[in-house]
Amino acid sequence: MSAKTSVPIHSLLANRKSPRSLDSTVVMSKDGITAVLEAARWAPSSNNMQPWRLFVGQRGDKVFTSILDSLAPFNQNWAHRASLLILVAGTTKRQDGSDHGSYLYDCGLAVSQLSLEAHARGFVAHQMGGFDKEKAITNLSIDSVLAPVIVIAIGKQSGIEQLEEALAERESAPRERKALSEIVVQGLPN
Ligand SMILES: Cc1cc2nc3c(=O)[nH]c(=O)nc-3n(C[C@H](O)[C@H](O)[C@H](O)COP(=O)(O)O)c2cc1C
Repeated sequence: MSAKTSVPIHSLLANRKSPRSLDSTVVMSKDGITAVLEAARWAPSSNNMQPWRLFVGQRGDKVFTSILDSLAPFNQNWAHRASLLILVAGTTKRQDGSDHGSYLYDCGLAVSQLSLEAHARGFVAHQMGGFDKEKAITNLSIDSVLAPVIVIAIGKQSGIEQLEEALAERESAPRERKALSEIVVQGLPN
């Protein structure tokens, strides 16, 4: 179901969503995987420092299993069906050793681009903050210069009957957002 927008916006944005009902048989092609990673690569970033680092797991492989194991049980319950699990970590320091003030912001931009590329290819991307960062660091031997930021499940949407009732209801409900008048503090055209 497309988002109810006050004026039409690009269909990719209006139709993007974060489903949990994924098809556990779908494998993403090598080109598809490379394309979503390229999309992240070309995100803008502060001083073009590109602080994002990606750990990419395909269902069944060691990286996937390591990321899955770090997820909160609620997320494990559905994300195990994903074609890919990607953990994004960020470099928290600049080259001169000072704090990188915008690494989280920059990682978010990269994830946004990656997500939209996945959707443009007929896949869905679902971000998860619900994971154990310490467990992820151990499982993936993440270098101490990196801080885990987010995990993204990428897969093909499938039937909601695989979800338990409460989740199935959430999945079929219309997507909601605050009104523009609530988020635009000054300058909303009238
Ligand atoms: C930073 C962040 C963390 C999130 N963490 C989780 C999570 O742990 N589990 C989950 O099922 N969804 C998670 N989500 C998905 C959001 O719940 C979802 O994007 C939001 O409800 C809006 O729905 P939509 O993306 O379908 O428009 C997260 C999203 C973001 C951006």
